[in-house]
Amino acid sequence: MAVGTAVIGSLQFGYNTGVINAPQKIIETFYNETWHKRYSEYMLSTTLTTLWSVSVAIFSVGGIFGSFSVGLFLNRFGRRNSMLIVNVLAFIAAALMGFSKLAESWEMLIIGRFIVGLYSGLSTGFVPVYVGEIAPTSLRGALGTLHQLGIVTGILLAQVFGMKEIMGTPIMWPFLLGFTFIPALLQCALLPFCPESPRYLLINQNEEAKAKTGEFLILNLRCFLGSLQSEMREESRQMMKEKKVTIPELFRSSLYRQPIFIAIMLQLSQQFSGINAVFYFSTGIFEKAGVSEPVYATIGAGVVNTAFTVVSLFIVERAGRRSLHLIGLMGMAVSSVLMTIAMALLDQVKWMSYVSIVAIFSFVAFFEIGPGPIPWFIVAELFSQGPRPSAIAVAGFSNWFANFLVGMSFQYVEELTGPYVFIIFTILLLIFFVFTYFKVPETKGRTFEEISASFRSGAEKYTQDDLNTLGSDSQL
Ligand code: GLC
Repeated sequence: MAVGTAVIGSLQFGYNTGVINAPQKIIETFYNETWHKRYSEYMLSTTLTTLWSVSVAIFSVGGIFGSFSVGLFLNRFGRRNSMLIVNVLAFIAAALMGFSKLAESWEMLIIGRFIVGLYSGLSTGFVPVYVGEIAPTSLRGALGTLHQLGIVTGILLAQVFGMKEIMGTPIMWPFLLGFTFIPALLQCALLPFCPESPRYLLINQNEEAKAKTGEFLILNLRCFLGSLQSEMREESRQMMKEKKVTIPELFRSSLYRQPIFIAIMLQLSQQFSGINAVFYFSTGIFEKAGVSEPVYATIGAGVVNTAFTVVSLFIVERAGRRSLHLIGLMGMAVSSVLMTIAMALLDQVKWMSYVSIVAIFSFVAFFEIGPGPIPWFIVAELFSQGPRPSAIAVAGFSNWFANFLVGMSFQYVEELTGPYVFIIFTILLLIFFVFTYFKVPETKGRTFEEISASFRSGAEKYTQDDLNTLGSDSQL
């Protein structure tokens, strides 16, 4: 229940990623009519394009700010209460977007998108930390993947609700956007019944008694209790010596430099794989590929996306993070080559439009096997309790910034390169494959303490800074 409640935040992020795609034309008409009422003239088409791009991209700008601030919340309010508090943002955003039509203000819609972006940036930090910290080691990958499952379910719901048969109409679109308040309400009702992360209570707050009830509530299964307790005791012995680590310290200390570099590269591999070129612009891509019902093909991509996240959920504890990430990157690289061939030959060979659908579906499927879910939860695994909040902030920031870059530049680059645009992603995917092969360690089945110990023994030389960070009674 605790994980299910937490990932309502992920669903919220996914919903707002996908919601703006289908009703584009209808909301643009609203912008134009409002403009006309105010200034007695219609907008220039370039102004409209710019306003629309801003409405889409401002979400990731909010995400950049939100993700960077996660450390402030996590350390001060704890994991559960941070998730609870930020729902205020979701309510404000829902009201701004939902009432923008009534108030005849497109500004309200844009500000609402920014605020729900802030919420999503914070959520993409809070959820993996909370889930990672309450999960037993043997299920950490599977439960961590639920964050991504929440995201993709949100995207799919938004795609389906956005159809013109449901809420993608001139009357209903404010409800489509305002619906963000429903998951927020649900999460506020359920979170008070969820326990605080026992790791936070025991290691950060040193409240052993509360941590024990937390454990009990979370696991509810006696067999896990013993192993988690002893794991946390060992971890807390290590971590008591470890102070809270700030963001600059992450880069200064040779202890953390390697894992933070890996964390950043994994986030970049997720976003520069080109996945959001598909999720933001798929309808246009399918149209260019000669598909007759592009909206349904887009929903098809959403279904494949969700289905393969479930596949990953079931195999991640057996196959491991590293191998799934490698398979996913290579599969995406091959699919993007296929997509390019299909796009380039479309004029000569009619049935290439089917090949392009298959290529895009397999691109999405391979994404969800590894590069979708794994980068989100592996950062919490690569770091121990002291540096974890700062590391999550840096990783989240990298992810959102790369997301913003792809969203902003894809259409311009596509104009320059035509059908060859995905070759850029192929090259990047191959680079990330090589990086993962040589640098990313397997974290499956290892405790937080074992993982950070492997980086400790890997750091060749310790500076005075490192020793200070670890504390004077360190075993070094
Ligand atoms: C990941 C990405 C997100 C993307 C989604 C697609 O969660 O972080 O940007 O839209 O996957 O499923």
